[in-house]
Amino acid sequence: MAKKLPQPTSPPRERAFLVGADIHGRKQILTLEDSLAELALLADTAGVDVVGELTQKLQAPNLATYIGPGKVEELKALAEETLSEVVIFDDELSPRHQRELEKALGINIRVIDRTALILDIFAQHAHTKEGMLQVELAQYGYNLPRLTRAWTHLERQAGGGGGRAGSTGGVGLRGPGETQLEVDRRSIRTRIAHIKRELEKVEAHRLRYRAQRKRSRIPTVALVGYTNAGKSTLLNRLAKAEVYVADQLFATLDPTTRRVQLPGDELALITDTVGFIQKLPTSLIAAFHATLEEIAEADLLLHVVDISHPNALGQFQAVQETLDEIDASHIPMVTALNKADLLKNPENARQVLKEFPKSISISALNGAGIPDLLHLVREELFEAYSPIHVRLPYKQGALISLFHELGQVERVEHERGGVVMHGRIPGRLLAQYSPWHAQSTQADKAYNAIEENDLEEA
Ligand code: GTP
Repeated sequence: MAKKLPQPTSPPRERAFLVGADIHGRKQILTLEDSLAELALLADTAGVDVVGELTQKLQAPNLATYIGPGKVEELKALAEETLSEVVIFDDELSPRHQRELEKALGINIRVIDRTALILDIFAQHAHTKEGMLQVELAQYGYNLPRLTRAWTHLERQAGGGGGRAGSTGGVGLRGPGETQLEVDRRSIRTRIAHIKRELEKVEAHRLRYRAQRKRSRIPTVALVGYTNAGKSTLLNRLAKAEVYVADQLFATLDPTTRRVQLPGDELALITDTVGFIQKLPTSLIAAFHATLEEIAEADLLLHVVDISHPNALGQFQAVQETLDEIDASHIPMVTALNKADLLKNPENARQVLKEFPKSISISALNGAGIPDLLHLVREELFEAYSPIHVRLPYKQGALISLFHELGQVERVEHERGGVVMHGRIPGRLLAQYSPWHAQSTQADKAYNAIEENDLEEA
């Protein structure tokens, strides 16, 4: 007699085999071992069980299969033996690598890389409309050149509705002579164009609020940090502590921005941001540029470091590198060395503190060090002056007078159409000057555009 077995409540987790390569002469923040440990953590977060790993030392990646042909054979045997369904490479694979590897490993094993895995996690965690659109766009961008075979993970991801990245079935009618692949590519391009238009609308909306926030003159602090450092926990703690927090005004604008009362009567807006990670794929930085711009526009960065992590310094550097990439390294920063409660010997914390300028040891979990941290934030925003070097067109008269009024002007050079000003200004005013930073190409472009307009008007 047939018996009905109880149905599993959640789908079984996939089994994954990890592959890492030590490429001769490549600059790496994490050792191969740490990088693979992190990849395993990422896999776990994405809902995949890691059943083994394989590494190879290489002079350079193999053009066809990334790792050498002998290693591919070894990988095939190991993946089959461990019943792996997916092989995850720690480095970014080219579409050709992925195709060749899938061909070599056989029909039952899919090959993905760190980027695809991170995209998958981002897709699971994107909550806002903008976040979902950004992830979907990044997924399509990633999948378009790889459109030979779908990754089921990507198929099940929600991304703002409508299309599904990586889906190869049942899209549209075929034109004359078109292969299914061409139809798929065309429909993905249409979807990409649609998402881009949607994103422009959402971003324009956010920019209007950002301008409003700036006008309100409440300084903004962006929380940055390696993934899992404790940023959200810290923001929650600050938001829960009723003495410091009035959590309403911007709640609808962006659920991760909170108004926090600093010691004294000063206020600050603290914003949680995307977690950073080493080898943050460039495509993701591009997709999240609008969110990351929030960081570049902040008056102060609050860098949260998990001090109990064995590679805290490497993680700190990885975040610094991304900040460089998004043009945010000039913004003043304080560092919160978090999870101090996990340190066996608090003396270690004191030693480590010396390595990080303007740092406080805290525990976002139990609240230790939070008042000191808020004091430091206040000091940086309202008492410290930061060096600044800006090129301002005469049309920005308000900013020129503000500099004279509240800053310490060291030198002014007059140019056709504007001034170059050197000096120091209070940290809380920095964000208003960020589009006019003298080193930034963005400032030059904006300046030249204004100059050209002026000439045309004249
Ligand atoms: P991403 O969203 O990945 O960027 O992470 P995050 O930086 O926002 O970290 P999150 O706040 O989600 O914390 C990650 C983990 O660290 C959670 O399990 C927290 O409970 C834990 N955690 C955060 N702060 C502390 C702390 O001070 N002490 C201890 N022991 N654990 C902490």
